[in-house]
Amino acid sequence: MAQTQADRVTVCYLQELKRQKQKITALTAYDYPVARILDEAGVDIILVGDSLGMVVLGYENTLPVTMEEMIHHTRAVVRARKRAMVIGDMPYLSFHLSLKDSVANAARFIKEAGADGVKLEGATPLRVQLVEALTEAEIPVMGHVGLTPQSVRRLGGFKVQGTEEEKAEAIFRGALALEKAGAFALVLESIPAELAREITSAVKIPTIGIGAGPDCDGQILVVNDMLGLTSGYLPRFVKKYAELGQQMNQAVSQYLKEVRAGLYPEEQHCYHLRPEKAGLVRKIKNKILKEKTKQTKENRK
Ligand code: KIV
Repeated sequence: MAQTQADRVTVCYLQELKRQKQKITALTAYDYPVARILDEAGVDIILVGDSLGMVVLGYENTLPVTMEEMIHHTRAVVRARKRAMVIGDMPYLSFHLSLKDSVANAARFIKEAGADGVKLEGATPLRVQLVEALTEAEIPVMGHVGLTPQSVRRLGGFKVQGTEEEKAEAIFRGALALEKAGAFALVLESIPAELAREITSAVKIPTIGIGAGPDCDGQILVVNDMLGLTSGYLPRFVKKYAELGQQMNQAVSQYLKEVRAGLYPEEQHCYHLRPEKAGLVRKIKNKILKEKTKQTKENRK
């Protein structure tokens, strides 16, 4: 089967990939240079996740992330992409207070940041109603069920979800409700592979898994985790494709060594005056010194 191509990834394109059983690729990004690299490599979806808070801004969890921070970073990512779909993640409390405020916040991702859609966590009746309202407002919505990190306080930590019948059923029903409300795709996070497989075959919209096994329609990872830029604990579903943190540490240590030893900069890193202008700097220096001496004398008078 020929690989489906797109100049710009759209909702229809993603649904076509699912129909053709071709895997959808997604990664997070939070800034211009990383988004450019992902886009050039051909990733389908760039999610400006609220994981921003933990992996870039140094917060303990995603709860403190603000709309302003999300808009700022989404704009940088949008400036870098040519092909990928860019999705902005709605941060905690940006879609919890009223339907009207939530739609207005989501619309900021589209109007101010230039995103193609938004993602929001959860599938409670109010969230499902919000997905309906956003769809009505022509804002494509990606749902997110399973482990929803903004619920960390209620869940008691970042734990696998849906391992018991009642919770698995709630996740399954939530996924179906989000699809019915108009979500164009679903993130399935940290749930058993068996549950993800059945949800994926039950819904027409693409599922994008993270810690949800191989049978989702696509996969997403936090880019800092898979590039080896995250220090400390990593969940078992993360595969490190590079050790950029180690490489950066080596590069910086070498720079420090060379600066301290006077080995950097070398001749090829320097600018020079043309030979006929070689006396110029001495002339400027003498002029300034003369002015200074004159000024000192005048001050003494
Ligand atoms: O915020 C984020 O990066 C996410 C992904 C883990 C799906 O929600």
